Amino acid sequence: MKKVLLSVTAVLLSASLVACSSNAKEDQLDKITKKGKMVVAMSPEFAPFEFKTLIDGKDTIVGADVEIAKAIGEELNVEVEFSAMSFDNVLASLKSGKADIAISGISATKERQKSYDFSDSYYESKNVMMVLKDKLQDYKTFGDFDNQAVVVQKGSIQETIAKDTLKDVNITPLTKVGEMVAEVSNGKVQALVLEEAIAKGYAEKNKDLAIAEVELPSDEADSYAVAMPKGSKKLTKKVNDIIKSLKEEDKINAFVQEAYDLSVKQ
Ligand code: ARG
Repeated sequence: MKKVLLSVTAVLLSASLVACSSNAKEDQLDKITKKGKMVVAMSPEFAPFEFKTLIDGKDTIVGADVEIAKAIGEELNVEVEFSAMSFDNVLASLKSGKADIAISGISATKERQKSYDFSDSYYESKNVMMVLKDKLQDYKTFGDFDNQAVVVQKGSIQETIAKDTLKDVNITPLTKVGEMVAEVSNGKVQALVLEEAIAKGYAEKNKDLAIAEVELPSDEADSYAVAMPKGSKKLTKKVNDIIKSLKEEDKINAFVQEAYDLSVKQ
């Protein structure tokens, strides 16, 4: 009797082990290499990280994040395809499986880390506010924005930071950075919140705009990282290795500088 029970338990045990291992999801790395293709989600109106430009008469997505994606594709020996979408859809596209990886100036916040895997950071960001250049003198402290209208990008951390910092301010999230810039330019709202590297480019191209003196809080967790679906342990390690060597060769700063120069020229 005992023997029978023991062997029944053994059979059950091994059956559940088999079930377990076949249920274990394959790492995102294996999924990508099996497909031979990596679909990258990004919102390309965020120069110098991702933006569209004409190359040989063809609308092409370029920028520092594009270069990072290409470096990853090369290392994994897979084709890289860019999938353009609004920023508030970028992370969700990893959950739906529409994209395999997201590189879009994404800040790896604690909140987002609960739902996604992130690489080590590759770029430190800083939050700034942009106003009309001839109104610069009016905006020296947060209080100067009381009862004013400020726009932020929908789904960005700036949406949260602005709401937490600017209490008596009328804050409106907009989908596109381009729309935000236009709203400030035409005087519909008084300011926008953006990250410094991006704001600089827009200020360079829109001479009526300037970066205000007030500095919004920035956190280490605001730094940009590559986002992947949960279950990307192997892929994360690969991406970290690639970021590490790009940093060691000072390539990321070079990508950012090159893309900046290209973006302000167009
Ligand atoms: N770093 C900010 C965030 O993660 C903004 C990123 C916006 N990126 C873009 N391509 N529009 O929320």
